[in-house]
Amino acid sequence: MDKRRVAILISGRGSNMTALIEAAQAADFPAEIVLVVSNIAGAAGLEKAAAAGIETVTVASKPFGRDREAFERQLNDTLVAHGIDLVCLAGFLRLLTPWFVSQWDGRMLNIHPALLPSYKGLHTHERALADGVKIHGATVHFVVPEMDSGPIIMQGAVAVLDNDTPDTLARRVLAVEHRIYPDALRLVASGGTRIANGVCTSKANGSPDDALVSPAVI
Ligand code: GAR
Repeated sequence: MDKRRVAILISGRGSNMTALIEAAQAADFPAEIVLVVSNIAGAAGLEKAAAAGIETVTVASKPFGRDREAFERQLNDTLVAHGIDLVCLAGFLRLLTPWFVSQWDGRMLNIHPALLPSYKGLHTHERALADGVKIHGATVHFVVPEMDSGPIIMQGAVAVLDNDTPDTLARRVLAVEHRIYPDALRLVASGGTRIANGVCTSKANGSPDDALVSPAVI
């Protein structure tokens, strides 16, 4: 089996990156992580990737200032030079231009810490708590020019507890992120997803038997 060549783009600690790297170590995983790129020099994730034996590159965005396209041309050249098939954004804190997104149309995934289309943008856990929602979670989606908006590949949900703080909620959502990102990449890399009219369908065959009801009345 020819594995898809994946680059992960990070800006920070890279815990989702680590989850992807670990999952991709399985012999039957349909993708291999061949490159980790950070736009921030010294991002903590770079060291973790290097320790896992993965090539790392920093394409610093700061020197480019407002010239987003010049930064992205260098980023794109790096990805193309490494023969990348699929790009996974994992805590990559840079808005991407329509030009860059179009280069990777249908081949770039992102993880967002909310059940999209709710809570696009930043501070998702704080906003979910302020609204008093009872179910929250994370989403893996294809990237389109509009932020946090592309076809949804997979979502995972957690119950929100009355005594949650943004930190406790973030911890439980992060555990879900680490589960769904590798699963979503497995689906996409194996050719198991289709996009039509902005909607992604897949041949994932499992679904939980029970509804998640929160709060549960016991
Ligand atoms: C993750 O929670 C990810 O969902 C979020 O940043 C965190 C990165 O953590 N991404 C966004 O908010 C993008 N809008 P990580 O570096 O440990 O994976």
